[in-house]
Amino acid sequence: MSSALTDLCRYPIVQAPMAGGASCPELAAAVSEAGGLGFLAAGYKTADGMYQEIKQLRGLTARPFGVNLFMPQPAHADAAAVDVYRQQLAGEADWYETPLGDPDSGRDDGYEAKLAILRDDPVPLVSFTFGCPTPAAVARLKRAGTLTVVTVTTPEEALAAQNAGADAICVQGIEAGGHQGTHRDDPANDCGGIGLLALIGQIREAVPLPVIAAGGIMRGSQIAAVLAAGADAAQLGTAFLVCPESGANALHKQAMTSPLFNRTELTRAFSGRPARGLVNRFMSEHGPYAPAAYPEVHHLTSGLRKAAAKAGDPQAMALWAGQGHRLARDLPAGRLVGILAAETAAAGSALALRNPA
Ligand SMILES: Cc1cc2nc3c(=O)[nH]c(=O)nc-3n(C[C@H](O)[C@H](O)[C@H](O)COP(=O)(O)O)c2cc1C
Repeated sequence: MSSALTDLCRYPIVQAPMAGGASCPELAAAVSEAGGLGFLAAGYKTADGMYQEIKQLRGLTARPFGVNLFMPQPAHADAAAVDVYRQQLAGEADWYETPLGDPDSGRDDGYEAKLAILRDDPVPLVSFTFGCPTPAAVARLKRAGTLTVVTVTTPEEALAAQNAGADAICVQGIEAGGHQGTHRDDPANDCGGIGLLALIGQIREAVPLPVIAAGGIMRGSQIAAVLAAGADAAQLGTAFLVCPESGANALHKQAMTSPLFNRTELTRAFSGRPARGLVNRFMSEHGPYAPAAYPEVHHLTSGLRKAAAKAGDPQAMALWAGQGHRLARDLPAGRLVGILAAETAAAGSALALRNPA
């Protein structure tokens, strides 16, 4: 494992940033305290909301942590397609007695304001998703002593991260829960997503940067597998989402292992960008025709998702989950880190026994 990353945590275990409430300061603190690397998600928050969470986290732990930013999105959505989708969602608005949101409620997620805070009051690590930051933005964070990580889903995106000067990459396989961090969403590439092990192999031979591997990892044996494949650490989202410290909605946590939800799919139904979640009614009905229009569709459906959660109805909530969701363990996050670390070590020893030097 590269020294800069290793220095941040005792175990090669990163708790994924999870926008929407799951990766709250309590969860990040529990993970960092236990020897993993906790993460805050700045996505969908105001710059001040992000800063308040950073201060809260610093009050809970003195251990290192990361903050994740969404990159601003180019205006490429077809307004007519968004309007058609709005009409197709009219019945949902009636059913949940809530208006659809304004699709033009902003596309930069307060990126510059968040970056300014992170430059003025640096944190140990900043990661980026949905695109690649400029070399200047990376250089300024590095000068402030912050490690920079860019999420990538292809070897080409890994090269872009390297060219921007990133310290490491988060390699996200198609198994991953939540949004694919693809730099540019292009429907022409649908069905072209690469599985984590295949992707690590390709990227390892394309760029020399340290790799944090993400997607479908639920057990220490799988962490050992990605380490053996050349990763320096593993990033787990779904595994930590169900922990008691996670701020995810209780219905979302329960759905992970409920027999009602037995598979995941990638969908644009909720946000307009491919994201993996448990298949529910909303996804089945609207996924087939949802347009490639992020963040317009996110804004459109935001109120609906909240209303469904308030009504206790998981069938119209975005139940983001990775392909390994059935293996979720409802354990305190610190204990989960300890168990994952022990499982990783046991898998490593088993491998060494089978292949003595
Ligand atoms: C509920 C949820 C929210 C997520 N939000 C973010 C986010 O804000 N930023 C990000 O870079 N990745 C986000 N992800 C993706 C994770 O970083 C990671 O790639 C993924 O969780 C790994 O797959 P797994 O869930 O199977 O472990 C999210 C994942 C989930 C499940």
